[in-house]
Amino acid sequence: MIKLNIKEATSFLKDDVYKLQDKVNLIHQSIHQKTGKGNDFLGWLDLPFSYDKEELDRIHKLKETYSKIDCLVVIGIGGSYLGSKAGLEFLKTPFKKEKPEIIFAGHHLSSNYLKHLLKYLNKKNYVINVISKSGTTTEPAVAFRLLKAHIEEKYGLEEARKRIFATTDKKRGSLYQLATNEGYEKFVIEDAVGGRFSVLSAVGLLPFVFAGIDVKKMLQGAQDAMVNASNPSLKKNDAYLYATTRFLLHESGKDVEYLVNYEPRLAFFAEWWKQLFGESEGKEGKGLLVNSASFTTDLHSLGQQIQDGKRTIFETVLTVKKLDKLTIPFDENNLDQLNYIAGKEISYVNEQAFLGTKEAHIDGGVPNIVISIDRLDAYHFGYLVYFFEIACAMSAYLLDVNPFDQPGVEAYKKNMFRLLGKK
Ligand code: PA5
Repeated sequence: MIKLNIKEATSFLKDDVYKLQDKVNLIHQSIHQKTGKGNDFLGWLDLPFSYDKEELDRIHKLKETYSKIDCLVVIGIGGSYLGSKAGLEFLKTPFKKEKPEIIFAGHHLSSNYLKHLLKYLNKKNYVINVISKSGTTTEPAVAFRLLKAHIEEKYGLEEARKRIFATTDKKRGSLYQLATNEGYEKFVIEDAVGGRFSVLSAVGLLPFVFAGIDVKKMLQGAQDAMVNASNPSLKKNDAYLYATTRFLLHESGKDVEYLVNYEPRLAFFAEWWKQLFGESEGKEGKGLLVNSASFTTDLHSLGQQIQDGKRTIFETVLTVKKLDKLTIPFDENNLDQLNYIAGKEISYVNEQAFLGTKEAHIDGGVPNIVISIDRLDAYHFGYLVYFFEIACAMSAYLLDVNPFDQPGVEAYKKNMFRLLGKK
């Protein structure tokens, strides 16, 4: 479960959040009755319950077939990779070398990265999961072309075809066509599930299963979040309360939101969150500017600006209650002068850093919303994913934009294609 605390944000608001209840009720209705803007992209709403169990069984079988591989290469960009990478970082123990190693590709156009990846894979036993809903995105297509040639050369055409899994549209797009022609194992991204809302489909679940993550627990977390979000009352629905609070902060001139963590394993979760909110809300000249910071690390880089720079920032802090225990040892010489905290847990020291920072930032005019979770496990990852997805839909509708399109993404592509001479 998660706990939301908006106490340290409310004094910055021009109005009482609960006054938005009527508007929230209407939006809630329009989400569930599918009458709002972009309503044909609401397939993620019941995905925690409706996700195809047979497909999940197929994923588990595939994992058994390839239980001895060294690496799974996941090719994708945006919503086709951020969620799975966020989940892996959230859930995996640092420094633990596990098999298979999950490697990402196709999320940029770096020749340096790709060249070294191909070299690295020469000596590895690997399979590929190429993910693209549209099936036409340049970055993953370029990476896949290179990796397809590499895997075919390494294993021969027939075996390579077995080692490539495609996650894409049910019946459209170049990747769908290619996968059908080659006979790759296919997984579906439903029409009604947009990229940035797709982590709880095969897009995220295949890499998670290969990484040994308990996806049942993950879906359970998402299901609980879904049930908790079914009541529109702001007194009961924390996702909506978060959405309305950030909306009112924005209305009060605080329109830069930092998602802050005190745990490095949460750093990439913020990348997924930034895409979710940035791409869903940032249109028609509207939307909050989303940013992220990892504390205490970034207190030594961004801290000055947050404390004392332009007063448009607020923070949403993600905290974790139960963390690994590690005590600061006593040192007789005390040359580092740390004996005053000898015997204390590092997590206790981290918590005091959080409390001290919160106090300082609030004094400096930076409102704080705090979201705490019990632990970094699959259940809480699933819970948070759904929590932010439904909050994002509410938030975008409060801003009166379509949460589910991304017309602005086309601009760079158009120019790039023109410069590359694409017909
Ligand atoms: O949220 C979205 O729809 C986008 O960010 C897409 O996920 C991203 O552009 C990748 O698209 P595709 O999966 O079609 O390759």
